[in-house]
Amino acid sequence: MLSSRRRAIIMRTESPLANSVILEAFARTRLLLERSRITDAAIEAEVLVRLAVRKDRARYFASLQEPLGAEQSTALDELVQRRLGGEPLGYIVGSREFYGMDFQVDSRVLIPRPETELLVDLALGFLAERKAALRSECGTGGRSPVTVADVCTGSGAVGIAIAASAQDVRVIATDISADAIDVAAANATAHSVLDRVELRLGDLLGPIPEALDLIVVNPPYIPSANWEALPSDVKMEPRMALDGGDDGLDIFRNLLKQGANRLAPNGAMFVELMPEQIENADRAARKLFEKAAVGSMQDLSGNPRVLTIQRGGK
Ligand SMILES: C[S@@+](CC[C@H](N)C(=O)[O-])C[C@H]1O[C@@H](n2cnc3c(N)ncnc32)[C@H](O)[C@@H]1O
Repeated sequence: MLSSRRRAIIMRTESPLANSVILEAFARTRLLLERSRITDAAIEAEVLVRLAVRKDRARYFASLQEPLGAEQSTALDELVQRRLGGEPLGYIVGSREFYGMDFQVDSRVLIPRPETELLVDLALGFLAERKAALRSECGTGGRSPVTVADVCTGSGAVGIAIAASAQDVRVIATDISADAIDVAAANATAHSVLDRVELRLGDLLGPIPEALDLIVVNPPYIPSANWEALPSDVKMEPRMALDGGDDGLDIFRNLLKQGANRLAPNGAMFVELMPEQIENADRAARKLFEKAAVGSMQDLSGNPRVLTIQRGGK
């Protein structure tokens, strides 16, 4: 028999999840996340429990009535504490799905967001048209010299997703952060596209002397004054990846200046921004790209999200 004092000590040190089944652990985790106003608490709770019990989705759902082992409940407690402490789920898991592919992420890079997949969709649509036009112009027999710049590449998600879907393009990806270039290199290797995704350290288009058919960019665009009010997990991502200066458009304006003479005839530039920035960005682009067609594309919520600049021929 345990003395009542020893029982009290064990009760104090035991994980609150000890002796529960996986489903109960999920419910409790979800409640804790909801209480901390974490959106998508149910999805995040499932991810954390699966991480603690080390099961894929199918095995997790098949074992909801199995008891949580002592080690597993301690692991889950730790994971939940990290999340409640403000660490983004992507950093805890160490990866994030983007365009149907898994990307390694950690505190050195921004976690790719679903809205950025629009950039990849637009790029792939543009590249398909461009390759068809080049084939009929020069009879390249399906071979294409199309070169794409993924500026501000971070984890490499955008450029790597493009390279993985469009086999015969060359992607040059740049970032001003050496740490980000390291993460992007690991992701390019993991997705077997390192031979077609060249990574270069430097400021925007600075490291790219080549003429470009397409420039895609998700630049830092949060106005500096909005930084403090951002959710605590977002503030754990590199400020350099998010802060775009006074009105959020500093990096974008620098890129416009650099890009004005860099697009090949019929080339295009696609820039992700906040919906409320598109009007000003459109005006700035029309000044610098006098003969280009400037417009915007909407995201799934119907908000203008990507500024599009398409240069004419010659
Ligand atoms: C918003 S994140 C985009 C990351 C990735 N492309 C994505 O969509 O998930 C912006 C990235 O731009 C990089 N960056 C900031 N200023 C830069 C500059 N002047 N030149 C190149 N990269 C820059 C940051 O290091 C960060 O990785």
